[in-house]
Amino acid sequence: MTDTGSSMGTPSDPSRDRPTYAASAALYTRARESLAGGVSTAFRMFERPVPLFVREASGAWLVDEDGNEYVDYVCGYGPVILGHAHPAVASAVAHAAATIQQVGAQHRAEVELAERLCAVVPAFERVRLGLTGSDAVHAALRLARAATGRSLVVKFAGHYHGWLDSVLTGTAHLPPGLPETAGQPLSALADIVVVDWNDEDVLRRIIVDAGDRLAAVIMEPMACNAGVIPPRAGYLELARELTSNAGALLVFDEVITGFRVAPGGAQEVFGVVPDLAVVAKALGNGFPISAFGGRADLMELVASNRAMHAGTFNGGGVSVAAANATLDVLLAEDGAGYAHMRALGLRLMEGLVERAAAAGRRLVAQGPGPVFYTWFLSDGGVESYRDHLRADSAAYARLAEQLAHEGVRVIPTGRWYLTTAHTGADVDRTLDAVERALLRLDA
Ligand SMILES: Cc1ncc(COP(=O)(O)O)c(C=O)c1O
Repeated sequence: MTDTGSSMGTPSDPSRDRPTYAASAALYTRARESLAGGVSTAFRMFERPVPLFVREASGAWLVDEDGNEYVDYVCGYGPVILGHAHPAVASAVAHAAATIQQVGAQHRAEVELAERLCAVVPAFERVRLGLTGSDAVHAALRLARAATGRSLVVKFAGHYHGWLDSVLTGTAHLPPGLPETAGQPLSALADIVVVDWNDEDVLRRIIVDAGDRLAAVIMEPMACNAGVIPPRAGYLELARELTSNAGALLVFDEVITGFRVAPGGAQEVFGVVPDLAVVAKALGNGFPISAFGGRADLMELVASNRAMHAGTFNGGGVSVAAANATLDVLLAEDGAGYAHMRALGLRLMEGLVERAAAAGRRLVAQGPGPVFYTWFLSDGGVESYRDHLRADSAAYARLAEQLAHEGVRVIPTGRWYLTTAHTGADVDRTLDAVERALLRLDA
């Protein structure tokens, strides 16, 4: 965590000509002949001016196939929290790859990781390991239904819980409850209801209406997919109380917030402990790993295999080694990395708002720092999904594109991620780039 800037060097001249993307564009054209849409996940196809092909990533920096360098705030869409190619993670992974990559048996490091997860995440008394957020959410909801003998799940508009059929609704500009992709049967959504988040009356009403059909309420306890939106004071406590009274389970999807906003995730920050929780992204600093878990009596259903959970690659040596190494670093020095990310995130948010105001734009930025969100909004703040939808997302996408030309890579929808590898110099450079990009926003 030095303040010396990129470990790869810095763009030679900040006012350089607009970079070219010929190599990325050529690879994208070539990729579309073999890889559907030229990408491996739908979200990446929206990057402009072209989905980037990255040649190398180190610390907070990326280099693309054209040799353009970027301060990276995409961070692998959230998993990278210690910076790219962190040496401790890389060497743990190299050792695991050479010794215990995929054995299809238990191994010591897996137990060590489970013990640490149970020690750090308040809800976890027992865990199971998975590979992705989507598969761990799927397992948690199956368990919730098995434990309650009920089927109905309540989710919230704008909260994303993965791409699987049974939860993919209420995240796009479509009426909640509808399938969001071709091929998703309406019947897969028969047992899920989407309601507004952060609205106490709505929560009370839906839980009363659902009665003894309600298996679980699942939420991002700090909404991160459609804006980074904290819960209103008392909202999580209310959800906790109402679900308990209804004999239903409270499930926190901490795929983004887990290990990112604090070691114990949003449940640690807000002091509300769900029955079940899911963590993923930041746990492995970019290697595929997730976990779900919760109260021991509930997890007994998984332990006994009455609620089946499986996966060939679960607990694989490389992913587990990456997670243990990531936790070693994240938890070291009393979590100093979090203070660093919070301070830099705050500085960045303040700077973004100031630079935008100087350019005659109203930008709103909010979040705990290691992750935050930015919107162009003509008035007001963002406390709900409706507020989020009021923003000028087209202008923001243009800003993201202009920022790429300035050597700063951001997610085109507004979310920013930081790592412990970002420096004050990176932030200063980013703010200068933002100033220049804002000037060209309507060009
Ligand atoms: C809150 C949340 N839950 C679940 C998922 C799905 O995780 P994955 O993409 O690893 O399947 C995501 C992915 O972004 C997420 O943000």
